[in-house]
Amino acid sequence: MIELILIAAAYLLGSIPSGVWIGKAFFKTDIREQGSGNSGTTNTYRVLGKWAGTVVLVMDIAKGTLAVLLPLWFGVTIHPMIFGLFAIIGHVYPIFAGFKGGKAVATTAGVALGVQPLFVLVLIMVFAAILYTSSMVSLASVLTLIIAAGAALFVGDWVFTAIVWIAMILVVVRHRANIDRIRKGEENKVPFGLNQSD
Ligand code: G3P
Repeated sequence: MIELILIAAAYLLGSIPSGVWIGKAFFKTDIREQGSGNSGTTNTYRVLGKWAGTVVLVMDIAKGTLAVLLPLWFGVTIHPMIFGLFAIIGHVYPIFAGFKGGKAVATTAGVALGVQPLFVLVLIMVFAAILYTSSMVSLASVLTLIIAAGAALFVGDWVFTAIVWIAMILVVVRHRANIDRIRKGEENKVPFGLNQSD
């Protein structure tokens, strides 16, 4: 029974639409109607500035980490990544925001951080290197998740690996429009790194 409650809690935690709520509460702005239309860190940073973007990043990571740590604190023996998967699903399809959520990157990082912190720390460096080189968060996100899925074959158990693969597929699918823009040379860039727009 506690397992079912924690699975529901993980989904509800993941469903907290940080960007939407921060935008509406402090800026009277629906983040989904501006910029790329995404409710994640990058678009919040783009539209509402670095402080709002940072708060959304921390919240989106924290909800994933909390979803995998809660079952451990309750002594549940089911693999924590199962709860993490529900948090990721909540983030992408949030019940509190009309099932229109984010692109799964920060919450996936938060989930993996709670289970394999060293794995995530290495991947953050990979992400930073790709972001610095390309100035495109979307490219860094997609490539990092693909690298993570490959690396997960050698790190952690099969449940961890399987859920990282599911997350990678979700991230790629949610970045379809970004991938299209990257191919056309039209993707949004951040104002730093080697390839920033003029
Ligand atoms: O995690 C989302 C990021 O990779 C891309 O965000 O707003 O540029 O579509 P955005």
